[in-house]
Amino acid sequence: MIQKNSPLPIYYQLEEGIKEAIQQQQLMPGEMIPSEREYAEKYGISRMTVRQALSNLVNDGYLYRQRGKGTFVAHQKIEQPLQGLTSFSEDMRSRGLVPSTRVISFKEVEASIDLAAKLEVKAGAPLFELKRVRLADQLPMAYEMLYISKELAHGLTEEIAVNSIYDYVENKLGLKIQHGRQVLEASFARKTEAEMLEVAEGAPVLLIERRTTLDTNKPLEVVRSVYRADRYKFTIDMERF
Ligand code: GLP
Repeated sequence: MIQKNSPLPIYYQLEEGIKEAIQQQQLMPGEMIPSEREYAEKYGISRMTVRQALSNLVNDGYLYRQRGKGTFVAHQKIEQPLQGLTSFSEDMRSRGLVPSTRVISFKEVEASIDLAAKLEVKAGAPLFELKRVRLADQLPMAYEMLYISKELAHGLTEEIAVNSIYDYVENKLGLKIQHGRQVLEASFARKTEAEMLEVAEGAPVLLIERRTTLDTNKPLEVVRSVYRADRYKFTIDMERF
């Protein structure tokens, strides 16, 4: 993979070679890659050069380091288009991944003034509060905290929440989900979020707040989701006006 007489810098050739091996699945997610010394010996190049290539790949999210253990192949990020109001279950299935859910808590609470305004219910009205870890192929992707009016989703149970809420709302309750507004911000994983997502406290995450409304304009849900920034990226198509 290295041509010493090429005009391309050696670190760059090594970097591209490792990327290609990841793309062609010769190196698999979670697999430990050879050490700096091994690469240096194998290609007859300096360890400094290897270090530069590996650092670039770590910074670009292809590899990750575990202190005292080594450097590993990262999971490829999931690309999520920002257009289209889809559910987590739909998003994962459309990529050939198997969605699953760990319900952390499910309880009835009284609407705070803030939530009451967002959900257009009276302050103190009964809401369901649902905390869930969402997984794709068994890997934690997001931690969600959802509020939904009990009046709308009266029959919601923990068993239903293990599956798709949108499926329940549309196919069991017969309601039509129409519109969503989403705010996306960069953030750091707080302690509980870090535990749920199996990342270090302070690891980068994407914070998403979504409010969804029905075709009647009635708000359905207010959701705060924390997505692992190392597993997710968002894309948007743009037209120049
Ligand atoms: C995404 C959204 C949530 C929504 C959820 C529904 O994760 N960020 O706002 O509640 O999808 O997903 P599902 O229908 O799989 O429960």
